Amino acid sequence: MIRASAFFSLVLGTLPVGAFAGGGADGPGWKDVSEVFVRRCINCHAAHGASKGLRLDSYAATLEGSENGPVVVSGDPAASEMIRRLTGESTPRMPFLGRPLPPEELELIRRWIETGLRDEAG
Ligand code: HEC
Repeated sequence: MIRASAFFSLVLGTLPVGAFAGGGADGPGWKDVSEVFVRRCINCHAAHGASKGLRLDSYAATLEGSENGPVVVSGDPAASEMIRRLTGESTPRMPFLGRPLPPEELELIRRWIETGLRDEAG
């Protein structure tokens, strides 16, 4: 007979860690990250007023990037200007003049980039 604790660690051990960070098992999709963009970014990054030409109000526009080019590099969060802005590694930090994203939202966006910028959650 298996003890309950052993049973749970067996079940949990088979779940990908990321399953708890939002989105599908293989990675979040646009729907997951756009929820953060709508709340925290599109006041300044949408069709009506796109700071630095960057729009975060559609999947296509987000991948297109700013007047400087792409801000997300598929599979490489550290090389993505979006992450650098959210952590303050590049300044000014984003959200501009706002409180920084909570760690779980930063992690969600980081995983979205790392797992290949999915349109649909994996
Ligand atoms: C209050 C307005 C405002 C909000 C809210 C805001 N931004 Fe920005 N964002 C700006 C401005 C202004 C710039 C240009 C700053 C600069 O580099 O001179 C900018 C620049 C950026 C850049 C750099 C573009 C480039 O190519 O240099 C990224 C990436 C970015 N923002 C992402 C975000 C994200 C992601 C959010 C939400 C979490 C966000 N911003 C929220 C105003 C805002």
